[in-house]
Amino acid sequence: MRLSSFVASPLSCLFISAFVFSPCASAQDRTTEQGEAQISDPNIECTPYQYPPVGNAKNNFPLSWTAATILSGDSDAQAKYQSIESLIPNIPPKGTQPQSLVGNWGNITYDPSDPDCWWTFEKCTTPKVPGIPDDIAGLPEPNTLGYGFDDGPNCSHNAFYDFLQSRDQTATMFYIGSNVMDWPLEAQRGLADGHEICVHTWSHRYMTSLTNDEAFSELWYSGWLSISRIIKLVVGVTPTCWRPPFGDVDDRIRAIANALGLTTIMWQYDSNDWRVGSGNITEADIDANYMDLIAAAQNGTFGASGTMMLTHELNNFTMSEAVKFYDQLASAFSYLVPVGVAFNVSNPYVEDGYTLPSFAEYIDGTHTGSVTGSGDGNTIGGSSDSSGTGGNIPSGNSTITSKSGAAIVSHSHVGSFASAAILITGIQFML
Ligand SMILES: *[C@@H]1O[C@H](CO)[C@@H](O)[C@H](O)[C@H]1NC(C)=O
Ligand SMILES: *[C@@H]1O[C@H](CO)[C@@H](O)[C@H](O)[C@H]1NC(C)=O
Ligand SMILES: *[C@@H]1O[C@H](CO)[C@@H](O)[C@H](O)[C@H]1NC(C)=O
Ligand SMILES: *[C@@H]1O[C@H](CO)[C@@H](O)[C@H](O)[C@H]1NC(C)=O
Ligand SMILES: *[C@@H]1O[C@H](CO)[C@@H](O)[C@H](O)[C@H]1NC(C)=O
Ligand SMILES: *[C@@H]1O[C@H](CO)[C@@H](O)[C@H](O)[C@H]1NC(C)=O
Ligand SMILES: *[C@@H]1O[C@H](CO)[C@@H](O)[C@H](O)[C@H]1NC(C)=O
Ligand SMILES: [Zn+2]
Repeated sequence: MRLSSFVASPLSCLFISAFVFSPCASAQDRTTEQGEAQISDPNIECTPYQYPPVGNAKNNFPLSWTAATILSGDSDAQAKYQSIESLIPNIPPKGTQPQSLVGNWGNITYDPSDPDCWWTFEKCTTPKVPGIPDDIAGLPEPNTLGYGFDDGPNCSHNAFYDFLQSRDQTATMFYIGSNVMDWPLEAQRGLADGHEICVHTWSHRYMTSLTNDEAFSELWYSGWLSISRIIKLVVGVTPTCWRPPFGDVDDRIRAIANALGLTTIMWQYDSNDWRVGSGNITEADIDANYMDLIAAAQNGTFGASGTMMLTHELNNFTMSEAVKFYDQLASAFSYLVPVGVAFNVSNPYVEDGYTLPSFAEYIDGTHTGSVTGSGDGNTIGGSSDSSGTGGNIPSGNSTITSKSGAAIVSHSHVGSFASAAILITGIQFML
């Protein structure tokens, strides 16, 4: 698929380092997606590098891993925010910052009738505010698993993406804007490999704890049609789907996402892979969660409709679990497909030129969509488009050779938040 990838052979790198005592990094190409995809040593993969299109645009983004707010002087963001403000229901943010940013809701009161369809409270996925679409949590196609992973792009993901490639398997990848900023070539690999890319916010906060403009900014700077959107800058496409970190969404946040053209994608099973190492959660617990899903698939639970499980591209363990259980999942389910394939989303991005196969095409054996877009579309500093139609220049220098179609959906959590993920421990119910 990547012919140029054989140019800088890892063997020559080994040879050099064995005889010259130099770190291999000098033999690595860390300037292109193809070069980056060749690196197999996780330590080198995770060594920071400079990527000029991002470096030059740093002022157009919030700092990575800080909670996003609308930047002063970002008139595109301000105009868009004002244009959608009237669509946002009057629901107060949950909890009190800063504790609520990490899911410690403190002593909040919440009406047990769940007026806001707050997923964190009772896993509600059918909004109570009119005019907002239901979340996607299961799939219409029987015996089908929506295959996907949260929290990427992980800097050390080449072994995992190589594995998926070797199985002709694609997935839905929920990318965190800050990770895309820090690891742009890795993000480009996601598109180049044919995965479906969705938004997983800028800094992975509990969204319901944010104010309206903060929640807007977490989506805007990650993936929406801002001149400053990082996924557009780096990968060249504008996603139309998102997954809330920790599943923390209510009708207020749904309304903001919906106004930005983002479909909310949840899950029905949780591997809990991200929790290993926090509290008393062990690797055996995660194995058991995978095996439960496999057993359910084997006994006909999904004979009428398919499902999704939350899994993560978060660290070596979560990716290794995905590899370890791949064959069993693939045989227990009839199909593992990206979420967009299960819904016949033929155009997964705002831009023209990228397609996913339909479900019918996929099960007929066509795992590859088509890509007609190409080119270097670094739009920062170029023409501003606040109209909502998006740029039409696919950018990012990704080498897109295929767009194929199968995946599992998971949700990942970023290290520093994982240990702080205390879910509604202190809620008192208002009667
Ligand atoms: C909850 O309220 C109690 C008593 O007012 C207080 O001591 C405690 O710190 C509060 N907890 C949080 C997480 O805010
Ligand atoms: C982990 O510990 C909590 C109490 O601290 C307990 O309720 C829970 O069952 C334990 N979970 C497992 C998987 O052992
Ligand atoms: C199928 O397997 C799942 C997971 O083990 C179990 O929870 C469920 O009860 C089983 N259903 C049937 C109909 O056997
Ligand atoms: C990626 O995974 C590695 C290995 O588990 C981990 O050390 C690293 O923190 C992760 N990086 C990111 C950006 O998630
Ligand atoms: C996990 O780490 C080991 C040791 O570095 C590596 O060989 C393996 O490929 C990694 N697995 C994944 C899925 O990243
Ligand atoms: C996808 O297309 C197939 C074949 O045309 C159809 O049967 C199925 O209902 C469609 N799925 C959705 C979610 O529209
Ligand atoms: C695309 O590649 C050219 C030349 O290799 C480079 O100058 C440019 O910065 C790249 N653009 C992006 C968006 O990666
Ligand atoms: Zn996550």
